Formats: sequence, C-alpha cells, structure tokens
Amino acid sequence: MGETLERRILVTGALGQIGMELLEALSSRYGADSIIATDIRDSNKLESSGIKFHKLDVLNKEEIERIIQKFDINEVYHLAALLSASGENNPELCWKINMGGLLNICELSRNYKFRIFAPSSIAVFGSDVIGVANQNSPLNPATIYGITKVSGELLAEYYHATHDVDIRGLRYPGLISWKVMPGGGTTDYAVEIFHAAVSGKRYTCFVDEKTTLPMMYMDDAIRATIELMEAPSENLSVRGGYNLACLSFTAEELFQEIKMIIPEFDCDFEPDHRQRYADSWPDATDGKQAEIDWGFKIHYDLKSMCYTMIQSLRQ
Ligand code: NAD
Ligand code: SER
Repeated sequence: MGETLERRILVTGALGQIGMELLEALSSRYGADSIIATDIRDSNKLESSGIKFHKLDVLNKEEIERIIQKFDINEVYHLAALLSASGENNPELCWKINMGGLLNICELSRNYKFRIFAPSSIAVFGSDVIGVANQNSPLNPATIYGITKVSGELLAEYYHATHDVDIRGLRYPGLISWKVMPGGGTTDYAVEIFHAAVSGKRYTCFVDEKTTLPMMYMDDAIRATIELMEAPSENLSVRGGYNLACLSFTAEELFQEIKMIIPEFDCDFEPDHRQRYADSWPDATDGKQAEIDWGFKIHYDLKSMCYTMIQSLRQ
C-alpha cells in the first residue's frame, strides 16, 4: 500500500491497554473518520473522539466480514487477545481467542487483501533462552499464551508465504503506560507500581525484586507499530514478530528509580503464580533486525520513562 493511499482502518480489541493509545495515534495521523474501533466489550469512551465504535467478537467471522465490506477496510490492527496471566487461568479460551481470532483475520485478508498488524510477545521465548533473546533464539514457551504467540507467528509466516497476505508483527516487551490499566498480563506490576506510588500507597509487587524483563514505554511501542505498518513490504524479512530494542531492569531497580522522584514511596515483594511466567521469559531482547529492516530505535530510557509516567499520572 503506497503511503499516499487513503487508509480505512479496523482495530480489534481496541478498548485495551494498547488499543486506546493506538486509536489516538492513528486518529491524529490519518484522521478519526478513517478508523473503525471494535471490541467484545461495549463502550461510550470514544463518543467524543469522532472514531466509530462497533461491538465485535473476533470469533464471529461473518460480522468481521460485514464490517470489512461495509467500510472497505484496507488495514487491520488485530489486538484482541487474552494475555499471559488471564490465559493461564483459562487455557482453552486463550487458544480459542488468540488463534481463532487471528485465523479469521488472515482468512478474510486472502479475499479482501487488507494489510494486517498482529502483535506477538516476548512470551514466545522460554527458559532455555538465558539473558538476551535474539531474533532467532529458540521458541519454547512455558505458557499457553506464549504457545499461541509462537503459533500466531507461524500462521503469519504461512499466510504471507503461501497466500501473499501482507501481515506484520512485533514481539512487544512488557508495555508501560498510564492511560489504560493493563489487561491481565505478567508485566502488569510495572504499571501498577506507578499508580500506587502516585496515590501515596505502598505497593506489593507480585514478582521478586531480582526479576528482570524486557520492557518499553507505550509511546515507543505505538511508534514502532506505525513505523512497521508504513515500512515498504519488500524491506521486511520477518512477518511473524520482530524483536525490538527494549529497556531491561529488575523490579527493585524500577522501585528505586520511582523512589528517586517520590522518596516516601515504599514497596515490598511477594511473588505469586506469575513469578513462574516471568522466570520463563528473557531479561532483554535484541532488536537489530528491526533496526536494519525498518530503522526502529527506542527513545525512552528507564529514567525518562519513570519521569513521564509520574508526571502524566499526577496530571
Ligand atoms: P488488553 O487485554 O489490554 O486488551 C485486549 C482487548 O481485547 C480487551 O479490550 C478485550 O476486551 C478485547 N477482547 C478480548 N476477547 C475478545 C474477543 N473475543 N473479541 C474482541 N475483543 C476481545 O491487551 P493489550 O495489552 O492491549 O494487548 C493487545 C495485543 O498486544 C495482544 O495481542 C497482546 O498479546 C499483545 N501484547 C501486549 C503486551 C502488553 O504489555 N500490553 C505485550 C506483548 C504483547
Ligand atoms: N505484557 C504481556 C504479558 O505480561 C507480555 O506479552 O502477558
């Protein structure tokens, strides 16, 4: 799709942590009237934004097709999914939504030829990857969520190679943002801690202080998403999921960094079942391939991310 072409965009799972921020960014770039936001939940949150909202279950292929036909959609950001902790609570539903939804979108793109963004995750890696995960590190996930993400990447590569579907994906690190609370992931502690700090509460972190995970501030993730979707197709050597350069810090380092800004803030560490998922993921991801293919660079470091999070939540 040339950059001069008019975009007609469908976003699934649009009311989630990423969706609400992506809608804002897409709207200021392409115009609110070029976007159809959908989610299985109902909402009037978008009423003042000028973005049309439709309630949509991504397992309902006929309804997705109806929307694609009606609005002549040429780009789909497919965000509807269950995340790691919610997925582990209900593996069957996690498989159904994460795989069934993606399969519906890929199948419809065979006919309607729209471009797809389908996010993957650092959860594709398992505990055989020690330290930094490279683009081609082994994919042996320990969670059902990770299994759906590896399968989703394979599906993307297959539909691209065999059916010429223009599908693109990123292995998002844990995303830190302030506008919408995260939706049932393992990296949620890195968001919750800010809310506690700013509202003067002590935080009990559900992973231990040494836990180190790949993380990123939401603005970098949204920019990565749009940059990938605007990159020329022929530049892309990966379709399932690009690793991204990321932040990497322990839960203790995050606490200490927040404490530099809010000295009275206190935190303790009481690992629960989510410690096991965190332990199975790498400390960091190497994003060389994304930089080579479409030039992605991270902007926020730990300090600027903490400062921005706290300033934004205070306002
Ligand atoms: P989220 O849980 O905040 O939002 C997901 C949205 O999907 C929710 O609004 C939910 O109502 C909706 N949904 C669930 N089932 C649905 C269905 N059957 N039909 C339609 N909508 C449905 O998740 P998010 O953080 O915004 O994640 C979006 C995507 O990014 C997911 O694929 C997730 O795996 C991936 N990802 C997120 C992170 C992160 O840190 N947030 C990291 C890596 C990957
Ligand atoms: N942030 C996500 C989760 O914790 C990673 O994909 O589930």
